[in-house]
Amino acid sequence: MKILMVCLGNICRSPLAEGIMKDKIKKHQLDWEVESAGTGAWHVGELPDPRSIKVGKENNIDITDQRAQQFKAAHLNEFDLVLAMDSSNYQNIIRLASTPQQENKVKLIMNYAKPGMNVNVPDPYYGDNGFDQVYNMLDEACDAILLEHR
Ligand code: 4NP
Repeated sequence: MKILMVCLGNICRSPLAEGIMKDKIKKHQLDWEVESAGTGAWHVGELPDPRSIKVGKENNIDITDQRAQQFKAAHLNEFDLVLAMDSSNYQNIIRLASTPQQENKVKLIMNYAKPGMNVNVPDPYYGDNGFDQVYNMLDEACDAILLEHR
């Protein structure tokens, strides 16, 4: 199983999703791969946002080995699941899909935790308080992903 976590900048939400998912995969000794990407290119090559690094660290998850990359259409071939943080990311990814098989790989990540509710992981970039909430939502989603796909 190869999973790609996608947000807008690839510095706040999807790096945490990648770190949390990798931690659970390791604990369950699964042979899965996880990466993350952003639909925007502004932060390519950068470390995750310090606020995401901090909330990860508080939960014993180190995401400082990650560097931002931009989402590209080829990822829809390379990965089995492409998980969008919000509906805007979802639309931007779907626009790059060229077959129904590729479209079927794209899902809103919170639909694992709350099926059919189309809940967005809120963008915490402009503000200081959203990071704990983002962490908790992604932790719940990653548990549900494990339950469904392992
Ligand atoms: P992310 O948050 O999509 O969770 O990484 C953002 C990071 C940067 C920007 C927007 C959202 N930005 O506009 O630079």
